[in-house]
Formats: sequence, C-alpha cells, structure tokens
Amino acid sequence: MIHKQKTLFSGIQPSGILTIGNYIGAIRQWLEMQNEYNCLFSLVDMHVITVRQDPKLFRQQTLDVFALYLACGLDPNKSIIFAQSHVSAHSELAWILNCITNHGELSRMTQFKDKSQRHSDNVNVGLFAYPVLMAADILLYQSDIVPVGDDQKQHLELARNLAQRFNHHFGETFVVPEPMIPKQAEGGRIMSLQDPEKKMSKSDANQGAYINLLDEPNKIRKKFKRAVTDSDNEIRFAEDKPGISNLLTIYSAFTNKAISDIEKEYEGKGYGALKTDVGDTVADFLEPIQQKFAEIRPDETQLLKMLHEAATKADKLARPTLNKVMDAIGFLPRG
Ligand code: TYM
Repeated sequence: MIHKQKTLFSGIQPSGILTIGNYIGAIRQWLEMQNEYNCLFSLVDMHVITVRQDPKLFRQQTLDVFALYLACGLDPNKSIIFAQSHVSAHSELAWILNCITNHGELSRMTQFKDKSQRHSDNVNVGLFAYPVLMAADILLYQSDIVPVGDDQKQHLELARNLAQRFNHHFGETFVVPEPMIPKQAEGGRIMSLQDPEKKMSKSDANQGAYINLLDEPNKIRKKFKRAVTDSDNEIRFAEDKPGISNLLTIYSAFTNKAISDIEKEYEGKGYGALKTDVGDTVADFLEPIQQKFAEIRPDETQLLKMLHEAATKADKLARPTLNKVMDAIGFLPRG
C-alpha cells in the first residue's frame, strides 16, 4: 500500500495466446504491483490492427487474452483492466502526439524495422506510428511507472521524450513515466526455444519456439525437450550459452530459485535432466491457470460486462488529461 497514489500502466497486444515470455516479462510484475499502485492493464487491441487480422479470430483472441489476464490472477477489483479500443481518448491523443513526433525518430524504431520486414506486403502508416499510440496509452493516465519487457525499452524512451517535448512547448501537462524492466537474467527477455538469439514471440511462425499459456502439459514438455542448446553439456549461465541461459532464466522465474543455486543443483547432470525439470515445472505452474481459464472463458457476456465497466472507469481518468492537452494547444472548448 506504500505507493497507492502512484499510477501504473501496461498492456499486451491480444494478437495471440500469451507466451511465457509475456508472463515472465510483464504479467508476473503486474501481479505484485496491483497491490501497491493504481494500476491500469490494457488489452491494446488498437495496436493489433497494424498487422492484418481476421475479424472473427481477432474478437475471440481479445476475449482469450482478457480471460487469461484474469486466470493469471489480475483482479478487476484492484485494477482497471480494459480494452484500449473502448476508450477513444487513446486515438485522439495519439493524433495530437503524432504532430510533435519526428519522422526520423520513428524510422529508428527496431520493432518497426522488424515488423515491416516480416509484413513487407503491408507496411502501413499505423505500423510506423505504433510507438506514438503507445506513448498516448501511457501519458493519457499520467502514469508514473510502466512495467514491460526489455524489447519495449526504445518505445518507452520515445514516450518520455514526447512527454518532455510537450511539456516544454505547451507547459507542464504530462507526468514523465519511468520504465520498469527486469534484467535479462530475471526474465526481461525470454528467448525463442528454437533460436535462442531471438526473442520468444507469440507471433513466431514456428510453434516450437514458444510456450503459450494454454499449451497442453505434454506439448510443453516436448517443446522444452527439443529446445535448441549448445553441445558442451555444461549447465552454466553465460553469454556464449544463450540456449541454456534461457532455460535457467525460465526455471528460475517459475521456481523463484536463484540461477546460481540451480547451476549448483545441476552440476554434473546433463542437459536432458534440466530440460525435463523445466518442462515439468512450467506445465505444473500453468495447470491452475489453464483450469481457471476454462472456467471463465465461456461466459462471454460476463467478460464483456467486466470490460465495459472498466472502460467507463478508464474513460473518466483519461478525459481530464485529454481536455488539458487540447486546451494547452489552443483548441476551442467543446460545448
Ligand atoms: P507485446 O504484446 O509484444 O508484449 C507484452 C509484454 O510482454 C513483454 N514481452 C516479453 N518479455 C520478456 N521476454 C519476451 N520474450 C517477451 N515478449 C514480450 C513485452 O515487453 C511487453 O511488456 N507495444 C507493446 C504493447 C503496448 C504497451 C503499451 C505496453 C502498447 N501500449 C503501453 C506498455 C504500455 C507490445 O507490443 O507488447
């Protein structure tokens, strides 16, 4: 209860079932912080359409991810858990922020470069301006703190720059948000099981590369057994051993054991033993989440009702900031 006055914002794109990367890098932090901060957790669905979606699947996936938030333990009585598209102030502020963002600073964004390569048939303006919408998400609620994985560092830097730039030109308006990013060994960047030089991603074409939170226990075990590692059979966290280091990070995240203790525990044991134990641990950890998901996911009416209530609350918080911004810029007052 120490920081009750501080506001925290974070979000995940409902572009597929969440992975253990999303869990370790983001949700795990959120679960701790929902008791200490005024939290807003968003299904950032407006970001998802920067890549072409099938409407029916998109709708289902957004509800899946909401039900997963709840199944993981996020509590709508403690936090505002809402869909970004239900609060129109996000896109209104994004437009305004577009007008103080330089083309050059967006061209440098690595996520844009990656995604425009992967979706070269659809390099749309929304994909380019994606980080500006993300800045709007954060600044709209005067967020003090934004817990994210390591891959969002550059986007967070832009959000801070835009807040400072706006304040400089138009007077103190926005809180400049602080990122909260776990170190790599603490799960800030969980890597692909098939290519440990690459981030684990829910949109990876190779399903063996990621564990999603709804994978069946046997599938989870199999994926870990097939995880790509080096061949020296020594269990040690090291830069030149990205595959094993990744398994150690995942194991540590789900058991709360220190990596150095795990290294000792597996001295003299082979990779097979570690892979089996990580697989079992993750499968066991996810079982209650999967059960809870199966219980709550079918009641779509209830899920929507919860989202609508949350959107009303979020909208109430967002409006005053948007009004302040529009006033500072010189728009005529609304009737
Ligand atoms: P998204 O949907 O890609 O990922 C959601 C969160 O999960 C983290 N994450 C990871 N952490 C560790 N290892 C991984 N392999 C891994 N993969 C994903 C991400 O860092 C993120 O915290 N742009 C954001 C969504 C967003 C947002 C926001 C976040 C939009 N507006 C405002 C915070 C605040 C994104 O694409 O996340």
